[in-house]
Order: sequence, then C-alpha cells, then structure tokens
Amino acid sequence: MDKLLIEGPAKLSGIVKISNSKNAYLPILAGVLLSSKRVRLKNLPALRDIRTMVKLLENLGVKSTPDITKANYSFLADNITSLEATYDLVKTMRASVLVLGPLLARYKRAKVSLPGGCAIGTRPIDIHLSCMSKLGAKVQLEGGYVEVSAEKLIGTRIVLPFPSVGATENVMMAAVLAQGETVIENAAMEPEIEDLGNFLIAMGVKIEGLKTSSIKVQGTTVSNLKEVEYEAIPDRIEAGTYLMAALATHSEITIENAIASHLDCVIDTLKNMGAKLEIGKRQIKVFASTLKGVNIDTAPYPGFPTDLQAQLIALATQSNGQSIISEHIFENRFMHVPELNRLGAGIVLKSNAAIIPGNLQLKAAPVMCTDLRASAALAIAALAAHGTTQMQRVYHLDRGYDGLDIKLKNLGVNISRKNDSEE
Ligand code: EPZ
Repeated sequence: MDKLLIEGPAKLSGIVKISNSKNAYLPILAGVLLSSKRVRLKNLPALRDIRTMVKLLENLGVKSTPDITKANYSFLADNITSLEATYDLVKTMRASVLVLGPLLARYKRAKVSLPGGCAIGTRPIDIHLSCMSKLGAKVQLEGGYVEVSAEKLIGTRIVLPFPSVGATENVMMAAVLAQGETVIENAAMEPEIEDLGNFLIAMGVKIEGLKTSSIKVQGTTVSNLKEVEYEAIPDRIEAGTYLMAALATHSEITIENAIASHLDCVIDTLKNMGAKLEIGKRQIKVFASTLKGVNIDTAPYPGFPTDLQAQLIALATQSNGQSIISEHIFENRFMHVPELNRLGAGIVLKSNAAIIPGNLQLKAAPVMCTDLRASAALAIAALAAHGTTQMQRVYHLDRGYDGLDIKLKNLGVNISRKNDSEE
C-alpha cells in the first residue's frame, strides 16, 4: 500500500488545474447503459473510482475504448451480457448502485449487491428502491443482493423524502425509458445532477427543471437515443480542497478550471473567515489571508457541502479562534478527527459537531487515511504541520483526487509517494 510523505510547513505557489468531476462522471458512466449507440466521454479524471466504474461497465458487456491518452473513452453498450453488479465491485464503491436505474430502464431487470458498510456511515439505498417501485418495479432483497424487475416502467410523480444525490440520479435514468412523464420532487440540486441531466439531454432526452428541486423527465425509447460526445464539469470538491490547502498555508495560488458558482456557499464561508479571493470566469485566485474561526453546518446543495467538511476542519486548525463545524448529512463522518488530533489539532467532538480551538501549531506524525475526504483533510493539515507527516493507506485518496501528490509537488511542496515495499 502506498504512503505519502509531506514536508511542512509548506508554501504553495503557482497554478493548479482542476480535473473533471468524479461525482459527475460516475452517474454519466452508468448512463452509458441506457443507449445502444456510441458514447464518447472526454477528459475523464485518472481516479480509482472511475476505473472501478469502467470495469463494472465492461463486466456488464459494455465495450470501452480509451484513446492513447487514457483520458478520452468511447463506450458502446449494444450487447449487454449481464445485468448484475457483483459484491466484489460494489463493496469497493457505493456508486456502483447507479447502474440499477439504467439497467432496469433498458432491460426491465437488474441485480445489484447491497453496498457494503461504508466508512462514513451505513448509507442504505432505501430511497433508491422505493423510487424504483413507484415506477412499477418489483424489489426483492436476497443474499445481500437487491433484484429489481418490471414488465414496464410507468412515469409518475415521485417525492423524495430526502434530496438524495444518488437516488435522484438513479430515478432520472430509470425515467428516461419509462412510459410517459416522471416528475421528481425534492430532487437533489447538486451541479452533478444538472450535469447528468445535460448529458441525457445531449442523448436526446427531454428534461426540464434542472438546477431546481423539481425535475421532469419525458420517457422515450432506446432507438430514439442519439450518439453523444460529452465532457463533465470540473470537480468542485477538488477545487475547494486546493482553496483550503492554500489558505491553511498562507499561500497565493491560482486554481484553474474551477467554476466558482458551484462553490458559492464555500466561497462565502471562506470570505466570512477573512479569505482574500479573486473570482474569475473559470478560475479562482487565492491570496495569503488571516482567518478567523467559523460556525457552519453541512447541508444539501446549495448549502455547505459535506464533502468539504473534513477539509474545512483541517483549515480551522490554522484559523484564529474557535470553530464549530456540524455534520448533518452522514452519521459518521468524523473519522479524520482522531487522526488530526495526532497532529495536535485538539478537536473535541460533541454529537455531530466538531469544536476546533484553532490557532494551533500542528506537529508532524504518522497518520492513517480512513476515507476519501478525510485523506484530503490530513494532506491539508500535513502541509501546515511542522516536520514530515507520513500518510498511510493513500488508496483512499487515490479514489477521488487525480494526482494530488503531483499537483502539490508542482505547487512547490516537498512531497513524495512511497510504496511499502520501498521500506
Ligand atoms: C453522493 O453520495 C456523493 N457521491 C458523495 O460524495 C456525497 O457525500 C453525497 O452525495 C452527499 O452530497 C457520489 O456522487 C458518487 P446521498 P450519495 O444519497 O449519493 C442517506 C465523495 O466524497 N441515504 O445524497 O450516496 C445516506 O445514508 C462522496 O465524493 C439514505 O438514507 O449521497 C446519507 O446519510 C462521499 N437512503 C445521505 O442520505 C438512500 O436511499 C446522503 O446520501 C440514499 C441516501
């Protein structure tokens, strides 16, 4: 297993280019299953989760052809040979459940392993399944698998009990080949949902209400779906991560390929803390800033994203004054706190709130990555800590950050990747 060695305190300088969004491409890749025509996707980020989803599609019979750069892919799902997403893949990536909607829509059956217990909570798929049954599917749970089947899917009005991102995406895709119109109320409004909608529209699907909590999908047929070429939006969570890394090290950097309007709440929060930012059309410039503490609660979009909660906690250790950061989306998303405390962060957890004293000089120590965004928080803290921090189980980080060590090295950080066998 790889580990990262990060020398701190570090100063970042220069330009970092954000990769395209993992959480936009994962549902779009699942959407490849809806069509029998060619789908070309451009500039896929080099991430473990993307490779896992491509492998899942190939296991189902999708032909995938990367170009020489391995960033652009051509897919053809004209001869699906399996309707089952097996446990060995689903257990490594919860987003595998996103094949449920497209397979049910096109083949009227799908069998998907229930997602394994994820580090950040139980994360059931009950909302996904109740939506599929509202469209007319029969849902059976057996042996750790869920099987959905239907004679046909009939479009209908569905009200989500919670604006679940994955459930919204699964229903949107199932609705594409249902008969008639489906209206999804209380839909998630994350930019990645809008991006999936734009991808489906490019395929020829009629969708209204993107960027709102009420999405209308007109059912169509496979033969009506067109060949499509598409590129997803930049990764707003990666952009927010570099924003906070620069602020935690009092650095000045330019973040390119970042859509600031996808980070409104994050930018407002950071500005309220004292961050000096210059917002461009597709870039954000960060200046060395003196920050004060912050009190914030995570919320569904457009509120403060849970995927930047861990990184904000790491930043808050470097802010003047106490911060209180509360998590409302996941019931167990503070795995990074004990690890940050090994660096001397002095964080106290009270129910779903983290209390960060701030203004502390962190000291390097060996730390363990536990999940994707926790790993990003540890990297930010390591940049601020005095000494060389060793981050273990970096495979968590590689799930969702495209070349973080290379990008940090290009920003002037003394960082190296070691494989255990190199010990
Ligand atoms: C997506 O996960 C993202 N993943 C997550 O990003 C992100 O944290 C999350 O949305 C919230 O923004 C992808 O897009 C691939 P949810 P998802 O369904 O779809 C509960 C990252 O770091 N819930 O909105 O799984 C669930 O337990 C990842 O990139 C149910 O109870 O999120 C959780 O508490 C981590 N039943 C909450 O809702 C359901 O059927 C949010 O889940 C579905 C969800």
